[in-house]
Amino acid sequence: MFVATLLSNPLFYPIAIVLSVAGWFYYQRVLSPYAGVPGPFWASLTRFWYLNRINAQDMHRYTKMLHKQYGPLVRIAPNEVSVSDPAAMKQIYAVNAGYTKTDFYPTQAPNLSPHGDSFTQLDEKKHTYRRRMISHIFSMSSVMEGEKFIDNATAAYFQVIEEHAQKGEKMEMGHWLHMYAFDIIGELFFGRMFGFIKERRDIGGYMGAVDVILPHAIRLAVLYEWMRPIINVVMYPLSANLRQAIRCFEALGAESKRYVDERIGKPSARPDMLSKLIKVMEEKSPDFDITDVYTEAYTAIFAGSETTATAMRSAIYHLCRNPQYKAKLVAEIDAAQREGKLSEMIAYGEAIKLPYLAAVIKEGMRVQPSIVLTFPRHVPAGGATICGHFFPEGCRVGVNPYVLHYQTSIFGEDAEDFNPDRWFRPDAANMDSYMFQFGSGSRTCIGKNVAMAEIYKFLPKLFREYDVNLADPTKEWKEEGAWFVKQTGVEVKFTRRNVE
Ligand code: HEM
Repeated sequence: MFVATLLSNPLFYPIAIVLSVAGWFYYQRVLSPYAGVPGPFWASLTRFWYLNRINAQDMHRYTKMLHKQYGPLVRIAPNEVSVSDPAAMKQIYAVNAGYTKTDFYPTQAPNLSPHGDSFTQLDEKKHTYRRRMISHIFSMSSVMEGEKFIDNATAAYFQVIEEHAQKGEKMEMGHWLHMYAFDIIGELFFGRMFGFIKERRDIGGYMGAVDVILPHAIRLAVLYEWMRPIINVVMYPLSANLRQAIRCFEALGAESKRYVDERIGKPSARPDMLSKLIKVMEEKSPDFDITDVYTEAYTAIFAGSETTATAMRSAIYHLCRNPQYKAKLVAEIDAAQREGKLSEMIAYGEAIKLPYLAAVIKEGMRVQPSIVLTFPRHVPAGGATICGHFFPEGCRVGVNPYVLHYQTSIFGEDAEDFNPDRWFRPDAANMDSYMFQFGSGSRTCIGKNVAMAEIYKFLPKLFREYDVNLADPTKEWKEEGAWFVKQTGVEVKFTRRNVE
């Protein structure tokens, strides 16, 4: 009776709304365990603030700016904090520290296997079990057994570069390096190139689909879990782009499965990653079955193509803008060439003996890490004090490599500058221990050796064979990041070099 009277009162609803908003406001600003952590006002009240920055594709630059303004802790959502303190990175991501991945990750799950996948698995025990099954195939010696497959894609790509050089045409490295990295993943994980380089186009619209689907997954990921299905239902009929991307994506999934299935029916002596995944399946089934082979190969496309392309773009772009460092790299490569230390398709084992090359690669990934949001983690049982603030169990905290890599306390007063020479300073080993481009701890990148093999082999060959310059040195690249960063407008011209 009382409730009925209350509900029929016309003032009830406006008053209830005002009280709820005031209660939410009071809770978030005063009672929440995150209260007192500084940051943008709206970020403390709603996750739509974060969504807005994802749409603007500048969360990494924005977070860096916020840390300059507010200090080592910044509240980037009602229930999430970005941490810039280098010591906190080691605390949060230490192996066995007990911090676990949050519900940010599952929107990126391939959902192909009942056992899940390594990247988005939230259950640490399941993750450890799976990672143990497959980690050996990602060791550098294992990746190197398939080095010639990387060379296949490289040979195809250099043919195109040579044509551009001969015609004096510029090449947009943003797009081409993505096609190249995608084709290498094809060679290693699917037994053949997808054919982007050969056909010189985004066959099937796969790359375009990744560019639409991934930001969509991240928009969902930064919102509350309960909102995600609703947004999916609303967005699907509204966005023709998304529908088209999902179709391309399904086609890519079907194509990938077909490649894997063909190999199962026709075992091969090819020592590529696909053969090794199939061997794990034969040894570990039913815990690792055919759907897990699909999953790992498919994950490699997502986790390992744009990311690797970004690392190569960053090195090339920054070298072109800083000719003094390019000259040092070229001198090192030329000297090695003259001494007969480099083969035609430069071997990884040869490339890692070039210290300036190593410094360039590291510096490129420092100033432009490929993944540029915080890697969010739950605080473990018992809570944790981070930068003087106590966070109870379950709170979300994370470090963004783009923020960490510019900390002057670690990388020096010139942290803003691209300067490979820094890696020859006495504190280089200390700086190295804070490099976070591949993450850290138990969830560190499993594909790091695949990426490093590609990058180390490609860059010295490029700079040995061509003088590479920006087509328009006054033009800056366009760099956008909604989780994985992407650069466009890296237009370069090649002039043939012959090192005697
Ligand atoms: C330069 C290239 C790459 C960069 C910068 C990179 C970066 C990262 C980072 C930062 C993480 C950890 C993310 C987190 O903690 O939230 C990660 C995880 C992962 N990466 Fe990479 N990645 C690269 C290439 C690759 C490649 C080539 C592959 C596959 C062939 C790959 C597969 C994975 C997988 C499966 C995980 C999840 C690992 C786990 O949780 O056990 N990545 N990567």
